[in-house]
Amino acid sequence: MNTRRQFLAATAGGFCAFVAQASTRTTSRYAELEARIARRDLKNLFKEDLPTPCMVVDLETFEKNLNTMADHCRKAGLQLRGHVKVHKSPEIARRQAALGSIGVTCATVAECELMVNAGIKGVLLTRQPTSKNNIGRTVALARRESTFGTVVDDPLAAEWLQEAAASEGVTVRTVVDVYAGLTRHGIEPGGPAIELAKKVDSSKNLKLIGLMGYSGGASHTRGWNERKKKSQNDLAGLLESVAMARAAGLPVSIVTGGSTGTYNIDSESKSLTELQAGSFVFMDTLYRQIGGKQEPTVYSDFGLALTVMTTVISQRHPHQVTIDAGNKALLRPTDEVKGCPEVRVENQGAEYGILVLKDSDKDFKLGERLELYPSNLDMSTNVYDRYYVARGEQIVDVWPIMGRSGAAHR
Ligand SMILES: Cc1ncc(COP(=O)(O)O)c(C=O)c1O
Repeated sequence: MNTRRQFLAATAGGFCAFVAQASTRTTSRYAELEARIARRDLKNLFKEDLPTPCMVVDLETFEKNLNTMADHCRKAGLQLRGHVKVHKSPEIARRQAALGSIGVTCATVAECELMVNAGIKGVLLTRQPTSKNNIGRTVALARRESTFGTVVDDPLAAEWLQEAAASEGVTVRTVVDVYAGLTRHGIEPGGPAIELAKKVDSSKNLKLIGLMGYSGGASHTRGWNERKKKSQNDLAGLLESVAMARAAGLPVSIVTGGSTGTYNIDSESKSLTELQAGSFVFMDTLYRQIGGKQEPTVYSDFGLALTVMTTVISQRHPHQVTIDAGNKALLRPTDEVKGCPEVRVENQGAEYGILVLKDSDKDFKLGERLELYPSNLDMSTNVYDRYYVARGEQIVDVWPIMGRSGAAHR
C-alpha cells in the first residue's frame, strides 16, 4: 500500500505517475485497507489513503465538544442522556459515559437495540412504539436491560405496552412524553398528561419514571434571547405538568428534554433534570448559524468536528471544479468547504458535486482532497458506514455507524 512517504515521492516525481501507480493497485489497496481496519492496524494510515467520499472526525475538536458538555452538565447539576440519532455510534456513547453521562436517548428501536447490545446503560427510546414489531422489541429490551425505558404520549399506546409487557412478565420503565411546541409528538400538558401519568403508574407492568418535553422548534431558533424565550414558552406546559404530577404523588424522578441549541438555556431555568442534546458532538453548519450567548452570529460553543472528505475529479471550466461528492454523499448544496466558506457547493447528480469558486481566490487542483461540513448531521451520517477518526492527518481509529435507515434490523 502507498504510504505517505511514497505518496509524496510519487507526487514529487509527477502527479500522473502517482495516479497511474495507484490505479493499478486499486483493488488490492481497497482489500488491504479493509483488512487493516479489521485488525485495527492503522499505523501510517493517513487521510490521503482513504477512499472518497468518506466521513472524517477531527478527534481533537470532537473530544473538546464532549468535555465542554460534560463540564457544563457537572457545573449546572444536570445529567446528560445524549441523543444518538445524529451519530449512531456506540463508540461515542461509551466516550460520553466515561465522562459521566447517564445513558443515551434514541429515536428508533433499532438504535436502542444497538446501544443495549453494545452494553450502554440508561437507554431511553424517545419515540413511542406503536407497531406490534416495535412494541415486542421494546418489551424484549426491557427484559434484557433493566435500565432501558421508553416514552408514551397516548393512553392507547400505554395499554398496548402494558399488555405486551404483562404477557412476557416484564416491567417497562416508562416516561410520559408531554407536548413542548413540536406538533409531531407529546400529549397535551396539564390534565391529559397527568391522566396518562396516572394510567402508566397504575399499570402493573409499567413503571413511571418521569416526564419528557422536547422543544425541537427552540433548538434552531436564531439568537440566544429569542431561543431562550421560545424554549421557556415551549417548556412551560411540561413544568406545570411536572408540578401537578408531583403534587398528585406520582413518581417523577426524571424530567428529560433539551438540545444542543438550548443546553445553556434549559440549565439556567432549572426546568430539566437531564439533557438530551446530541448534535454538539459533531455540530453542523445549520447549528453554527443560530448564534450563541456570547457571539450573536456564530454558535461557537461547540466546534465543527465532522467532515465529508472528497476529491477534485475534473477541472475543465473556469471558476469551478467537480468533486466526487454528490447527492448520495451530501444532504444539501449549502454545505461549506472546510477553510473556504466563500466557495459554493452544488450537487450535480448522484455522484458529482460542483464547487463554484467565482468570488474566491482559491484554485483547487485535480486530485486535491477537500473536506465539506455537513449542513445536517442526522441525514448525512445516515449514508455512511463508518467514521474515519483523525488526529491531524493521521487516522487513529475507525468507528462503525450503525442502525441506519435501510439496515435490515430497522
Ligand atoms: C427527542 C429529541 N431529543 C433530543 C434531540 C437532540 O437534539 P440536538 O441534536 O439538536 O441536540 C432530538 C433531535 O432531534 C430529539 O428528537
